[in-house]
Amino acid sequence: MSSPLRPYEPRDRGALYDICLRTGDSGADATGSYAEPALLGEVYVGPYLAFEPGLALVLDDGMGAGGYTLGALDTRAFEDRCEREWWPPLRERHPLARHTPGSADAGVVALIHRPARAPDVVVADHPSHLHIDLLPRWQGGGWGRRLIEALLERLAAAGSPGVHLGVGVGNPRAVGFYRHLGFTELHAVGDTLFLGRSTRP
Ligand code: ACO
Repeated sequence: MSSPLRPYEPRDRGALYDICLRTGDSGADATGSYAEPALLGEVYVGPYLAFEPGLALVLDDGMGAGGYTLGALDTRAFEDRCEREWWPPLRERHPLARHTPGSADAGVVALIHRPARAPDVVVADHPSHLHIDLLPRWQGGGWGRRLIEALLERLAAAGSPGVHLGVGVGNPRAVGFYRHLGFTELHAVGDTLFLGRSTRP
């Protein structure tokens, strides 16, 4: 079988939104937690496919995409572009106060209206950032490592010295995975750990 790791194609979009939801509860399935199942993907997948499609990689064994990694080369430029082009139409479609306060949907809508910006101390030496999510059938087989390595190669080739990510302390499996791959702690804000590493091996 040829490698299941391939560049993102526009036909993958729905599958990637679905993977985001199915891993959206600290790595576990968040289906059922959201009245609007596409909301999480609108924050954590959509803008990367729209603005950084060349850094989007998927795992596909012929059954459709089952895992992905997404990246942004220059986090500040990406945040600014999202502010100009991605968030305004979403804010119109998802007004604040439509969802029950405290619900999962309300939490994501709040993020759409007040997106988090990476701390300066994090982007200083690690200007790029990434996300990675694999459905359970792809987990534990080395594919997470392969996706990260493929993304780091692309980021290094594009001139990035370092990459960071934000991960919840409630997802110890992912934290252990990143640390095993050489990521170290850069900063912590509330329950979010910012980890980073050089894009070079
Ligand atoms: N502690 C220590 N080492 C670990 C851990 C851990 N918790 N998890 C994996 N490893 C090691 C493996 O043993 C392996 O070691 P080796 O290559 O030296 O033999 C190496 O890390 C790579 O493991 P993979 O099998 O490639 O890991 P996997 O394919 O399961 O990918 C991932 C890890 C991405 C966390 C996956 O399990 C997943 O998608 N989980 C659900 C979604 C999720 O939590 N995503 C992260 C959200 S945070 C964000 O995206 C910024």
